[in-house]
Amino acid sequence: MEIIDSVYKPREDSFLLKKELIKYIQKNNPKSVLDMGTGSGIQAITTKEADIDKVVASDINPEAIKCAKINSKNLDISFIQSDLFSNIYEKFDLIVFNTPYLPPEPPLDPQWSGGKVFIKKFLSEAKKYLNPKGKILFVHSSESPISVKHKILAQEKMSNGEVLYISLR
Ligand SMILES: C[S@@+](CC[C@H](N)C(=O)[O-])C[C@H]1O[C@@H](n2cnc3c(N)ncnc32)[C@H](O)[C@@H]1O
Repeated sequence: MEIIDSVYKPREDSFLLKKELIKYIQKNNPKSVLDMGTGSGIQAITTKEADIDKVVASDINPEAIKCAKINSKNLDISFIQSDLFSNIYEKFDLIVFNTPYLPPEPPLDPQWSGGKVFIKKFLSEAKKYLNPKGKILFVHSSESPISVKHKILAQEKMSNGEVLYISLR
């Protein structure tokens, strides 16, 4: 997988989400998936390789869109540069997002910084882009506890004590 400098390199959170995404797809067979904040494209590529019909990948960072396009090779994925849902005009069975879950402390970098305020905004906007019975699969962290209702599917403690959660809503 190629990574451009300003693009998030897949790491523990990416791999933990990927594992839960595969399980979710096998169990629920969604027909359409939006990978928000695609970065390298890891979650969108995983989804398309699981034979999902419609896969859209979006990111605020144009370099991420470039990078994910390269990594997706000839897979049929649509790419859209978008600040959250600003350029998204359809609905999905599943929206997946490895969020920038760390608290917004300087130096601010959209790869990492957002935390609970950002996640709350994302979850509240995402509702409008879901088909009936559609779900949101997302990453959050003990570093910025969220107050919205969610079901934790997996969690992992990092070496620094931080706990990462993969949740469904
Ligand atoms: C933690 S990285 C996850 C990258 C990749 N999905 C993964 O699992 O490795 C968060 C991604 O969200 C993107 N992002 C941050 N703020 C965003 C926003 N407002 N709208 C869309 N994408 C955003 C970042 O550019 C970054 O690629």
